[in-house]
Amino acid sequence: VCRGFSSSAVRNVVIKHVTVIGGGQMGAGIAQVAASTGHSVTLVDTNDDILKKTVKGIEGSLKRVVKKKYADKPEAGEEFIQKVLKNVSTSTDAVSVVQGSDLVIEAIVENLKIKQDLFSQLDKAAPAHTIFASNTSSLPISDIASSTNRLDRFGGLHFFNPVPMMKLVEVIGTSATSQETFDSLLNFSKTLGKTPVSCKDTPGFIVNRLLVPYLLESIRLHERGHGSKEDIDIAMKLGAGYPMGPFELADYVGLDTTKFIIDGWSQMEPNNPLFAQSPMLNKLVEEGKLGKKSGEGFYKYK
Ligand code: NAI
Repeated sequence: VCRGFSSSAVRNVVIKHVTVIGGGQMGAGIAQVAASTGHSVTLVDTNDDILKKTVKGIEGSLKRVVKKKYADKPEAGEEFIQKVLKNVSTSTDAVSVVQGSDLVIEAIVENLKIKQDLFSQLDKAAPAHTIFASNTSSLPISDIASSTNRLDRFGGLHFFNPVPMMKLVEVIGTSATSQETFDSLLNFSKTLGKTPVSCKDTPGFIVNRLLVPYLLESIRLHERGHGSKEDIDIAMKLGAGYPMGPFELADYVGLDTTKFIIDGWSQMEPNNPLFAQSPMLNKLVEEGKLGKKSGEGFYKYK
C-alpha cells in the first residue's frame, strides 16, 4: 500500500540517477558497478578528501577490469574508463543531491541511529518517487525505514564484497515495502549485471544467516578441541567444496565485523544458541587481532 502517493506513479520508475551514500569499501564498489552499467551516480561522503580517495580507488579498480576485458584493445579500455568516470560525480551534501535521484543506496557506518538520522533528513528532501535502500548487513531494514514517511518505498539492497566481482544482491522487502518498489529493486539489480534473490527482513537475510552461525560453530568445534584450525579449513575446502575454510573466511571478513554481527543478533534473540557468543572470537578482537586487515586473526599475514 502506498501512503499518500499514487501507486500507478511509482509502477514504472526507471532508475537512472542513483545516489550512493558512503564512499567506503562497499559504496565505492556499488558506485563503480552502477556507473559501469550506464547509471548516473552521485557519490556522497563526509569530506572531499575521502571522496577523492574513493574516486581514485574506483579508477584503479576499473583499470584492473579493463586489463582483463580489453586485453587486446587498450584504447577501447581507456575509453570505457573515461565514460564510466563521467557517470560519477561527488558531493558532501546528501540532502541537496537527493533531489534529482531515483534511488538512494546507503552504505555508511553500521549504526542504526546514524542511518536513521540520515534517512530522516533525506526523506524530507527527496522527491516522492525516490526509492530508499540500505546496504546494511545486520540491522533490520524496518528499523532504519521507521525514521521516514516512505515505508512503501524503502527496502534493502545487500551487496557482497568485493562488489564488482560478487554476482549476488540480496533484495530485502519489509512488510511495508510495496510490490512496485520491490520489483524496481530486483530490476535495478539485474541492470547492474547482478543476480538478485528475494529476502525477508530477518537477521542476516539469507547468506549471513547461514554463514555467520557456520563460522561461529567452526570456532566452537575448535574450542572444544575437536579439530585444529588448519584441519577444519582443509576439511571444508576438500570435503564440502568451499573455496575458503571457515577460519580463512572469518579472517577475510574481519573478526570485529563477525563479532559485531553476532553481538547484535544475540541481543535480538538471546536464547538462540546459533547466535551465542564465542570466548575465542571475543579474545582475539580484544587483542586487536581482527584478521587479514590487521595482519593477524586466526592466522598471521605478511
Ligand atoms: P566503510 O567504513 O568502508 O565505509 C563507510 C563510509 O561511510 C566511510 O567512507 C565514511 O566516511 C562514510 N560515512 C559515515 N557516516 C556517513 C554519513 N553520515 N554520511 C556520509 N558518509 C558517511 O564501511 P563498509 O564496509 O563500506 O560498510 C558500509 C555498509 O555496508 C555497512 O552498513 C555495512 O554493514 C554494509 N556491508 C558491508 C560489507 C562488507 O563486507 N564490508 C558487506 C555488505 C554490507
